[in-house]
Amino acid sequence: MKFFVDTADVNDIKELAETGLLDGVTTNPSLIAKSGRNFLEVIKEICELTDGPVSAEVASTAYADMISEGEKLAKIAENVTIKVPLTWDGLKACKYFTSRDIMVNVTLCFSAAQAILAAKAGATFVSPFVGRLDDMGQDGLGLIGEICQIYDNYEEFDTQVLVASVRNPIHIIESAKMGAHVATIPPSVMKQLAYHPLTEKGLATFIADWAKTGQKI
Ligand code: E4P
Repeated sequence: MKFFVDTADVNDIKELAETGLLDGVTTNPSLIAKSGRNFLEVIKEICELTDGPVSAEVASTAYADMISEGEKLAKIAENVTIKVPLTWDGLKACKYFTSRDIMVNVTLCFSAAQAILAAKAGATFVSPFVGRLDDMGQDGLGLIGEICQIYDNYEEFDTQVLVASVRNPIHIIESAKMGAHVATIPPSVMKQLAYHPLTEKGLATFIADWAKTGQKI
């Protein structure tokens, strides 16, 4: 499973990139607004921190405008992935970019039917939003299972399932069990993945016992 980080905060990205565990980055207009940075500048900076795909979302909703925005974004760096919404215009724009070998992440996916359309449009990634479905009492992880199963049935579907709107480690574990290709994870949840109280407790004991030996390595 590939790990993308879901943020536009370059400090967080830098820290995670240094671990060697980071495979890419996703941003969205809300994360860009939160960063307080210039969109084009921050995407360029992020692309210098990772070789993996960096999702940069178009701001327009009309096909022609998505194309001109996407073309501008694609020129920033080779690893820019154009993020388009799961609308008819977004699907058309997806086809346009992927047929020109530019990676596309089709975002705001909330149903299996939408995911089928994204695959037919040649999306590199489809982003089903698990947490937002859970928030409204629906089964976010159930949707991941459905999409993985459907994509597995068709060799011609190359689209990778990118689990988005991740809220906790369970979302990652269950999605990994179902074979989702990628998870985009907020930095706080990324840190939660490594934490276990027994690891902390065991380490404290080892450190104390090692000190008793008076040795050095
Ligand atoms: C995905 O690419 C989105 O940026 C993101 O996962 C949305 O998550 P949220 O529901 O926490 O805003």
